[in-house]
Amino acid sequence: MRKSVIDLHAMHARGEKIAMLTCYDSSFARVLENAGVDVLLVGDSLGMVVQGHDSPLPVSVEDVAYHTRCVVRGSQNVFILADMPFGSSQITPQETFRNAAELMRAGAQMVKIEGGKAMAPTIEFLVSRGIPVCAHVGLTPQSVHQVGGFKVQGRDEAAAERIIEASRVLEAAGASMLLMEAVPRALADRLCDAVSIPTIGIGASPRCSGQVLVIYDMLGLGAYIPPRFVRPFIRETGSIEEAVQLYVAEVKAGRFPGPEHCYSS
Ligand code: KIV
Repeated sequence: MRKSVIDLHAMHARGEKIAMLTCYDSSFARVLENAGVDVLLVGDSLGMVVQGHDSPLPVSVEDVAYHTRCVVRGSQNVFILADMPFGSSQITPQETFRNAAELMRAGAQMVKIEGGKAMAPTIEFLVSRGIPVCAHVGLTPQSVHQVGGFKVQGRDEAAAERIIEASRVLEAAGASMLLMEAVPRALADRLCDAVSIPTIGIGASPRCSGQVLVIYDMLGLGAYIPPRFVRPFIRETGSIEEAVQLYVAEVKAGRFPGPEHCYSS
């Protein structure tokens, strides 16, 4: 039986770290599940690491649904989180529901939506109609052209306050989980204090309830210079299986991310 959102909340409540990795196909799903990963994220990073684009913007709902079906077929117990790609959650709550429903029909158990306070009414609409949502704040790669690149967010106090306020509002709207990407460690710690839902970090803080990385990054396969928060676990081990097992062990023990993977203010 698959882990549920209730299981993830119980892990958070008892202080057990949540190990999440991105996954796009059934073979990796099997390996990651067997290595003890708790959540597989069918991320729109697939636009970059699978499709070869330079941003996630070209990814469609159909693409995410296809990869979600592949990941579902390769796994049995792991929780499946699917990304709402660019343009699928920004128009109306009704259209967002239709797109999210396609991902849920593909086997997702929760959808992830990027954005700040403006996404609250949409999240409320989905949650009140049975679709759990993970809110994604900090660096939101779908806004890469608005923020001028894949850059750390929330470095000045005004920006940090905006992210904290947005996170509170998104939790109040019903978000079940908060993912924070590329924010200074001090801000990540404040975000962990600001909300009571599980927090997932990527370039954030070891204080988060769990961590996520793009699988190809931790296997040293990215075609770009890896961001500071990537630890290429494959270089410390002899196989993909061992690299993922080490990742899970390091996340669970609170040893990943180390200070070298976090951003200072
Ligand atoms: O699409 C993705 O892989 C993500 C992670 C970077 C968090 O959103």
